[in-house]
Amino acid sequence: MAEVDPGLIQAPEHRPKPGIIKAEGIPVIDLFIISSPNTNSNDPRALDSLVAEIGNACKSWGFFQVINHGVPLAKRQNIEKASREFFGQPVEEKNKVRRNKEKVLGYLDTEHTKNVRDWKEVFDFTVQDSTIVPASYKPDDKELTKWFNQWPEYPPKLREICEEYAKEMEKLAFKLMELIALSLGLPENRFLEFFEEQTSAIRLNHYPSCPIPHLALGVGRHKDDTALTILAQDDVGGLEVRRKTDGEWLRVKPLPNACIINVGDIVQVWSNDIYESVEHRAMVNSARERFSIPYFLSPAHYTNVQPLKELINEQNHTTGGNFLSQENVIPESELAGKLDGALPISK
Ligand code: OGA
Ligand code: NI
Repeated sequence: MAEVDPGLIQAPEHRPKPGIIKAEGIPVIDLFIISSPNTNSNDPRALDSLVAEIGNACKSWGFFQVINHGVPLAKRQNIEKASREFFGQPVEEKNKVRRNKEKVLGYLDTEHTKNVRDWKEVFDFTVQDSTIVPASYKPDDKELTKWFNQWPEYPPKLREICEEYAKEMEKLAFKLMELIALSLGLPENRFLEFFEEQTSAIRLNHYPSCPIPHLALGVGRHKDDTALTILAQDDVGGLEVRRKTDGEWLRVKPLPNACIINVGDIVQVWSNDIYESVEHRAMVNSARERFSIPYFLSPAHYTNVQPLKELINEQNHTTGGNFLSQENVIPESELAGKLDGALPISK
């Protein structure tokens, strides 16, 4: 890249610090007892201890990794390979599925997080094709619209591979939401109703190697406005999580074939702030490109996200102030210019 777009440069306080602090404390949770077909979580003590692990991880970190999660390795490898093939094409090819005002899913290389451009390119699709969403961000506007996926010609099986992977992610996400419900003392199916017409999406992220990794970020600091996010990252590493105790940025160690889970804003609200959505960001580096694939679990568009009544009591009452954070809501004055990046996932 001959000249660097100044819009990519982070303000000094948000630039990566030299040296990496490893996130040793982020829990790694083994889901074997719920994902193995031969063990039908018959042992109530094993399930109780898994639920307690999930609850502790959500409370103290908002982030954890899972292993033995039941997603077939081949499906993950297929989507990782297809993602490399898609992004490996010349930009003219990728532009054939570029997002615009009407087509809000597909390819984009100009996303901004907190008004600074990210060093990345993405390809987005929703899990339900089509997905019904409000036509605008205005709360009083009742008009709805539909999002449709756009699929490129190359790689030829991208659609099939992505749809298969999405099904696996959905299964895992629902299992995790059951464990989260149990960890909050709720019936395991408490969250199910919110996802009948889910608006969940998957993003293929490509972070090219970067000549100015000390000045730019692959994705700037943000919280996910999801219920839950399930991220597959490759072996390069770069995801950093803000530790709740001291605000320090810690690097999440890539574990082969593990999935990284984080609580999003919506679980924060449902849980009445018992679990918090935690800030994270992605570093880039000058030596290697990096790929990641987040699955964003999100409820139906008409879900009125508010603290669950079972979790409101004298000690832990809601003031109404902890409804979905407004950090992702784009002021109307900026809307027109922003609509090309309309998928409201992580701003
Ligand atoms: C995201 C995100 C992190 C990563 O896309 O919301 O946080 O490591 N990605 O790619
Ligand atoms: Ni994120």
